[in-house]
Amino acid sequence: MRFGGLTALNNVNFQINRGEVRAIIGANGAGKSTFFNCLTGVLRPTSGRILLNGENVAGMPSNKISQRGMARSYQITNILPNATTLENVRIAAQSRRHGWSMLKHRDGYRDLIDKAEAVLDSVGLRPKADELAANLSHGEQRNLEIGIALATEPQLLCLDEPTAGMSGAETHETMQLVRSIAKNLTILIVEHDMQVVMELCNQITVLHYGEILAQGTPAEIQQNARVQEVYLKT
Ligand SMILES: Nc1ncnc2c1ncn2[C@@H]1O[C@H](COP(=O)(O)OP(=O)(O)OP(=O)(O)O)[C@@H](O)[C@H]1O
Ligand SMILES: [Mg+2]
Repeated sequence: MRFGGLTALNNVNFQINRGEVRAIIGANGAGKSTFFNCLTGVLRPTSGRILLNGENVAGMPSNKISQRGMARSYQITNILPNATTLENVRIAAQSRRHGWSMLKHRDGYRDLIDKAEAVLDSVGLRPKADELAANLSHGEQRNLEIGIALATEPQLLCLDEPTAGMSGAETHETMQLVRSIAKNLTILIVEHDMQVVMELCNQITVLHYGEILAQGTPAEIQQNARVQEVYLKT
């Protein structure tokens, strides 16, 4: 992925298998969010392929990629503040499932509400269903964003610093949440807290100036001399 003269991602040969929970780590500006933006159709990569279940989705519009089963949350919270918590999730469910046409069906709308309520249960926000999203706490808004992504029924969920700006207690809760949804999903997560990464993930990919510096298990990454030098220096 190039931005004019800047090569933000270069030669990123990367594979994630179904059921994996993988962290992407790397210093500020390493290219982590850009990687997610390419995967999810926010950016059109200047070259390369992105295969999702064998289909090249590079350069596809993000709604098409979403319909094929990839969802993401943003580093900076991206919700509809003037809609209720339930509506935020319901709209996302609608975009994925049947589009507008399903509203013609008698039970379609009820199905969407049921789906949205189930998602709110899974992210612990059911009691806040009728609250305007703007009135939720920062941590609740971050979890709502995960709910919005889940409502699109992804196979692969990309979480960009889901615990950014959270208190210690909120971070712990969100990590419990990610752990519970990881049972049925493939997850890619950008996370700076190394303790969280080590506990949560089976595999870690380290980005450094847009290139892959190392990939491996948490133990392998911790012992990797290059990684220690450029990223894990204590
Ligand atoms: N839309 C864009 N236009 C131009 N340059 C960009 C754009 N998006 C990202 N960049 C640049 O690409 C590089 C990678 O940025 P990116 O946001 O992907 O880093 P990151 O690893 O997510 O960092 P952070 O940990 O701070 O979130 C940076 O040099 C950034 O300035
Ligand atoms: Mg980023």
